Amino acid sequence: MCGIVGYVGPKSTLDVLIGGLRRLEYRGYDSAGVSVISPDGHLETRKKAGKLVNLVAEIEEHPLPTAHIGIGHTRWATHGAPTDGNAHPHLGGQRQKLSLIHNGIIENFAELKAELVAEGTTFSSETDSEVAAHLIAREFEKSGDLAKAFASVVVRLHGAFTILVIHEDQPDMVLAARRNAPLVIGLGDGENFLGSDVAAFVEHTKRAISVGQDEIVILRAGSVEVRSFDGKTVQPEEFTVDWDASAASKGGWSSFMAKEIADQPQAVADTLMGRLNSDGSVRLTETDGLSHEDIKNLERIIIVACGTASYAGDIAKYGIEKWSRIPVQVELSHEFRYRDPIITKNTLIVAISQSGETMDTLMAIRYAKELGAKVLAICNTQGATLARESDAVIYTHAGPEVAVASTKALTAQITAGYLLGLWLASIRGAVPAAELKRVGIDLLKMPGRVSQVIAGLEQAQRLGTSMADAKSVLFLGRNVGFPVAMEGALKLKELAYIHAEGFAAGELKHGPIALIEEGQPVIVIVPSPRDEDSLHPKVISNIQEIRARGAKIIAIAEEGDEQVSNYAENVIFVPRCETLLAPILTVIPLQAFALALSTAKGLDVDQPRNLAKSVTVE
Ligand code: G6P
Repeated sequence: MCGIVGYVGPKSTLDVLIGGLRRLEYRGYDSAGVSVISPDGHLETRKKAGKLVNLVAEIEEHPLPTAHIGIGHTRWATHGAPTDGNAHPHLGGQRQKLSLIHNGIIENFAELKAELVAEGTTFSSETDSEVAAHLIAREFEKSGDLAKAFASVVVRLHGAFTILVIHEDQPDMVLAARRNAPLVIGLGDGENFLGSDVAAFVEHTKRAISVGQDEIVILRAGSVEVRSFDGKTVQPEEFTVDWDASAASKGGWSSFMAKEIADQPQAVADTLMGRLNSDGSVRLTETDGLSHEDIKNLERIIIVACGTASYAGDIAKYGIEKWSRIPVQVELSHEFRYRDPIITKNTLIVAISQSGETMDTLMAIRYAKELGAKVLAICNTQGATLARESDAVIYTHAGPEVAVASTKALTAQITAGYLLGLWLASIRGAVPAAELKRVGIDLLKMPGRVSQVIAGLEQAQRLGTSMADAKSVLFLGRNVGFPVAMEGALKLKELAYIHAEGFAAGELKHGPIALIEEGQPVIVIVPSPRDEDSLHPKVISNIQEIRARGAKIIAIAEEGDEQVSNYAENVIFVPRCETLLAPILTVIPLQAFALALSTAKGLDVDQPRNLAKSVTVE
C-alpha cells in the first residue's frame, strides 16, 4: 500500500529509485513520483498519475540531473484521487525546498491542516500527506536543524506512516520515520538505501535492517543512525536477505503471476525444508516463544488473516483440528478485532500474512496480545512487523511474491499450516504418532506432485481462455475443497473482474441453486473417492442436481477417479495424496484458469485494478 524508496550514495540516484519503484509497484500503482537533489543543490521533482511507465515517460521528456540523493514513491490512493497533483512527493515550505513521501494515513491531518491554513499556508493537493511536508518545512525554517524539525513533527502525527524527507539545505541526508507502516534500511558500502521492503534495494545489497515501531532514521552515504521517537539511540539488528534480485524478476515469463504459479514446487519444498524428517516427524525452530507447557494448555486456536491468506487458514483448520484435537476458528482480522472476542491466556492466535504488514492483521494480534494470548505468525517476509511482534514464527520460504494475486504464498501458507498442525499434534499426543508420521511422509511428497500439476496446466489454461466471455462462474467444494472453491472465486474476481462465488456444495440446495440456469459454468472440487467416509458420492449428487438444471461442469478430481467423467464436461486430474493435503494441488488449476481468462480479456494480471498487494491501512 504505497511503496517508498530512498537512496544516498555514488550511484545514479534515478536508476536506483526507478529500479526500486519497479520492484515495489505491486504495493500500489495509482501514481508515481521522485525527487532528487542535484549536485548544485537544487531539488527537482517529477510525478505522474498512473503506473510507473508514465513517470518514466515524463522523465524522458523532462530529464532530471544526475544526483546522489533522492526519494521515490508509488501510490495506492487513500486521500485524494489518483491525479498528478495528489501524486507524491509533496513539497513543503514557502520556497518548496523540502520533499516528502508518505505511506499510510495521517488520521489527524484535518486539524493540522487547519493550523497551517490559519497561518497562511496554501496546499496544492488533497492528500493527508502534504500537511507533514509543510509542518516539517515550517519547523526547519525556525530551527535550521532538519533532524530536529523532523522529530518534532512526526510525534504530532496520528495513524500509520512511513515518511521520507529530503531538503535542499541539508543535501547529504534522507530522514525517515516509521509508525505502523513498513520500513527497511539497506546497508551498502559508501551508500545506503531505504525501502518499504527489501525488494527496493536487493539488487544492490543483501544487508538489511528492519526499522522498529516509532523510530527515526538519519541516512547518509557513510552512516546510518536510528533513534526512537523520544530521541534515544537504537542499536538495530542487521539481517541478510535470503533471496536475490533474480527471484523478484519476471525472467522470461509473460507475467509475475505466471512465474509465481510455476515457482510453487520450490515454494512448497523450501517451506518444508529442514522441518520434516524422513520418518515424517516435524521439527520447528523459531517457536521458542511457545513452550510445550503453553501448547499442552491450549484451549483454542484462532486463525486471523485477510484475503487469500484467510483461505489458507480455512484449509489449515481441517488438519490442525483433526490432528491436534484443538478447536480452531478462522476469522477475518478486521472482523475479529472489533467484536469483543473471547480470548484467554490459553488461546493461541495464528496470524497468516504473506507480507507481514497487513494492518488489519497487525491490529488483530496487538489486540489479542493485550488480552494475554500468545501469537504465532505464518509469514513470508523476513523482519516483517508481524514476525517481530509474534511469540513464534513459521516463515514460509516462498521467496518474493510480486503479482498482486497471491499464488505461491498461498500454497506455502497451507504447507506451513499443515506443519503447525502436525507439530502441535505431536506435542499434544491426541492422535497416535504413527498416524501423524504417515501424513508427514505424504507431505514430503507434495513438491513432486505440485510439479506434476504445473506440468499439466494446459487444460486449465485452455478452458480459461475459452471462457473469456463468461459473465459468472461458480465454484463448489466440500470439506477442504470448500475454501479452495472460495479461493478459486476470489482469483477470478481479482483478475478477471467477473462475478464469481465459492459455495459449500452441500449448501447449494439451501439457496444458491437458484442461480443455476442453462450454460452456467460451475467448477467443482471433487474429493477423493478412496477414503472410507469419502464425500465423493455426495459431491457427485450435487453435480447431478445442477447438471439437471443446465450447469456446465468443470471438475477438479483425483487421478483414477474415472466415475467423475460421466458427470462433467471437463475433468482436470491432479495426483493422489492424503485427503487433507489435496488443496495444495487442487488450487493450482484454479490459479491457471483465472490467469488465462484474465489474459484472454486483455487485462493486466499482475496489477489488477483498484488493488494493492500489501494493505497497510485499516
Ligand atoms: C491484499 C492482497 C491479497 C492478499 C491480502 C492479504 O488484499 O490483494 O492478495 O491475500 O492482501 O495479504 P497478506 O500480505 O496479509 O497475506
